[in-house]
Amino acid sequence: MKKNLYIYCSGGLGQEIAEYCKRIQEKYNRWNKIYYIDDVRQEKVFDGFEVFTYEEFKKIADKENSEVVIATGEPDARRLLFDKVDSDGYNFATIVAVTSIVEPSAKLGKGVVVAEFCHISTNAVLNENVFVNLHACVGHNCIIKKNVVVGPGVIIGGETTIGENTYLAIGTSVKNAINVGSWCIAAMNSAIIHDVDCGKIVAGIPAKVIKDNIEHGVFKKN
Ligand SMILES: CC(C)(COP(=O)(O)OP(=O)(O)OC[C@H]1O[C@@H](n2cnc3c(N)ncnc32)[C@H](O)[C@@H]1OP(=O)(O)O)[C@@H](O)C(=O)NCCC(=O)NCCS
Repeated sequence: MKKNLYIYCSGGLGQEIAEYCKRIQEKYNRWNKIYYIDDVRQEKVFDGFEVFTYEEFKKIADKENSEVVIATGEPDARRLLFDKVDSDGYNFATIVAVTSIVEPSAKLGKGVVVAEFCHISTNAVLNENVFVNLHACVGHNCIIKKNVVVGPGVIIGGETTIGENTYLAIGTSVKNAINVGSWCIAAMNSAIIHDVDCGKIVAGIPAKVIKDNIEHGVFKKN
């Protein structure tokens, strides 16, 4: 039996993920129905999809026939929502947009979303709840840990590891065989050529530490 897909958050990223899912639906008819979960939106129908709060979702969705995907681009929010849904015992969808290529030897964890026009290379491992945005390339044998957000146009060289909850902003390049720690942020167009310690914000070419990531928030000030 086909499952229902619940896209958790109906903001800009949720709407983009919904478009990827519509194209998957047109091509493969993968889900029974697609819905949004959103705890702040007032509309009951948005963008052509019914909207439930998380509490409503828990009442109507049976665990066997439902799968959830987290649709926020803030790693800390991804972490909180994923852990809540996971500890409530729901399944997660793993979604690859129709124009992206994931090589057969790559491994994608539950809740991973790969947006359009990406390439995930051989033996790369994307752990649970990773989001890879448009036009990004993840090199061979990379390990991308839980809740990482790979921004649009990011290129990660082979055998590199990106730590949990890290955010790589638009256009970041990461050299091969580098370790970027957990809770880091790379500012737009950073070129990371050395390992980065946990909890650092880096920027520039080559990327240098500009400050500590104390607030764990990428978008708070934008
Ligand atoms: C990294 C980031 C979170 C830093 O934001 P912030 O904490 O508000 O920091 P500020 O903008 O105050 O910048 C701090 C310093 O770093 C510099 N800086 C910021 N971004 C930079 C960049 N991309 N390259 C070089 N320097 C940069 C600023 O000029 C500033 O330097 P100064 O103190 O000498 O003036 C933000 O620049 C960023 O990249 N956000 C993500 C954007 C993104 O990817 N959006 C994608 C949407 S899909």
